[in-house]
Amino acid sequence: PVNKTYRIAVIAGDGIGKEVMPEGLRVLRAAAGKFGIGLDFQHYDWACAEYYERHGAMMPEDWKAQLAGVDAIYFGAVGWPRTVPDHVSLWGSLLQFRRQFDQYINLRPVRLFEGVRCPLAGKAPGDIDFVVVRENTEGEYTNLGGRIYAGTEREIVIQESVFSRFGADRVLKFAYELSRARARKQLTVATKSNGIALSMPWWDERADEVGQSYPDIRVDKQHIDILCARFVLQPERFDVVVATNLFGDILSDLGPACTGTIGLAPSANLNPEKRFPSLFEPVHGSAPDIYGKGIANPVAMIWSGAMMLDFLGDGAGACRAAHDAIVQAIEEALRSGPLTPDLGGSATTVELGQAIAERVAAG
Ligand code: NAI
Ligand code: MG
Repeated sequence: PVNKTYRIAVIAGDGIGKEVMPEGLRVLRAAAGKFGIGLDFQHYDWACAEYYERHGAMMPEDWKAQLAGVDAIYFGAVGWPRTVPDHVSLWGSLLQFRRQFDQYINLRPVRLFEGVRCPLAGKAPGDIDFVVVRENTEGEYTNLGGRIYAGTEREIVIQESVFSRFGADRVLKFAYELSRARARKQLTVATKSNGIALSMPWWDERADEVGQSYPDIRVDKQHIDILCARFVLQPERFDVVVATNLFGDILSDLGPACTGTIGLAPSANLNPEKRFPSLFEPVHGSAPDIYGKGIANPVAMIWSGAMMLDFLGDGAGACRAAHDAIVQAIEEALRSGPLTPDLGGSATTVELGQAIAERVAAG
């Protein structure tokens, strides 16, 4: 019996996005069938280089209307530098979703799995298991500022950062809530208040103020430089890490890099209030260097799908059970194979996707 049907916009995009997406859908279908969740997939053929070549834009003018009413966007990867400059493909699609749908949380779990070779020496599964929460809509990434005396010896450039109380408080609150929902009740706040003397002490103050409502959470503020070093040297210290846009961008690539292949790392771009659809995507890009060989690792896409179900079901009920079953199936597959070449195996994208889907169905 299906209780509720969710409408999912499916956008495969470019390169291996088109190869891993079918495996993500295969596993989602298996989980939906098993746990009685209704998923209505609506496919869109824009936000890719082929569309750009035909139309001179990454997306149709009315893209927002076309996506109105979907519950989530399941996104592969965008980018085909041979025909579309990367800033065009990214600003023309993914960044539009993040900004116009106010997806102010970028969430990236970082986890070392059994069966995956860790690039850090001496780390075992369980040593690395944390989540990076990145502010996704303001901060250091703005187009405010400009150049004067361009091209002369006096050339000056100014690039402003923008932090709002509204923007900081909502991401901090999300991070505290997430810490509370996890076992260790520990939050690390990335800062640089020793060097960036105006905005970062203010950010620390906001963390303290918002934290007043969370006396049960242990808070640890760390400067971004030593924080990066500790991701590598002592990853077991971390549970939830919250950061502004720039620092979060760096941490959320560094974290997954510490756990092996980029082919495993999932992410969610969330509008937690659900006023707009949230977007779920692998961290990796379109990987033109391996596209067409059928060897891309589908796990990041599949795990992103599990995160989507968890978000849609508010972390409870059938959706939560489906999320857990998918993650468990990933764990088992990584332990016993088949594995794609980035994991040291020789399996294809489809073989690994099928193995995970079968485990979910068998449960
Ligand atoms: P990339 O993530 O596409 O590839 C980096 C390296 O990791 C490549 O050697 C690739 O073969 C490997 N790799 C990536 N995903 C893999 C997987 N699932 N299984 C096995 N190996 C995998 O990053 P790159 O090369 O810098 O960018 C390629 C294109 O993707 C560019 O156009 C870029 O703008 C775009 N891109 C898009 C992103 C997105 O859609 N969110 C994120 C990052 C890049
Ligand atoms: Mg990045």
